[in-house]
Amino acid sequence: MQRKAVYPGSFDPFTNGHLDIVRRSLQVVDRVVVAILKNTSKQSMFSPEQRKEVIEEVFANEPRVEVKVFSGLLVEFCRQNEVSIIIRGLRAVSDFDYEHAIFLMNRSLKPGLETMFLMSDTEHSFISSSIIREVASLGGEIEKHVPQIVARKLRDRFQNQDK
Ligand code: COA
Repeated sequence: MQRKAVYPGSFDPFTNGHLDIVRRSLQVVDRVVVAILKNTSKQSMFSPEQRKEVIEEVFANEPRVEVKVFSGLLVEFCRQNEVSIIIRGLRAVSDFDYEHAIFLMNRSLKPGLETMFLMSDTEHSFISSSIIREVASLGGEIEKHVPQIVARKLRDRFQNQDK
């Protein structure tokens, strides 16, 4: 039986930290669905569809990765996509309490659902999408922290804003 997992998040934008988690997950499971949350309560820089396009390009040569947009409960998405493993990255101890709470809630909503936690590599442990957005908006170098296509999209976004 193929093991399929979901890696959910906002990915606004997708960073090398996220990329590292997906790549390492593929050593443990057969397929990963990157699930982009359409979150109306979070103000986003890129639309979920733009994020989907970018992440698809990042994984253009990896047929085991699929990218989808979702709204509503993650457990419902898992049910619809026949996924029983959720992947989450832990960057530091500070992530733990929040992740633990989500893990317990998801399991309570859908017994049998497992969450697999991967520790971020140290080089990615301080990255977050909002830090990347802020540095990019102020003209700082973000190239080593995001895939090339993301760096290009961020540059385009801020160059066009300056005009
Ligand atoms: N590398 C780099 N950054 C990472 C990272 C990693 N490995 N893991 C997380 N991050 C960053 C993200 O970029 C994000 O940064 P930001 O806050 O600056 O944007 C931050 O950490 C939080 O990311 P994440 O934990 O993925 O939160 P999220 O809001 O993007 O997604 C969901 C959380 C989607 C898993 C959760 O909200 C969800 O399941 N929602 C659906 C509704 C639902 O079912 N709710 C009930 C569950 S309790």
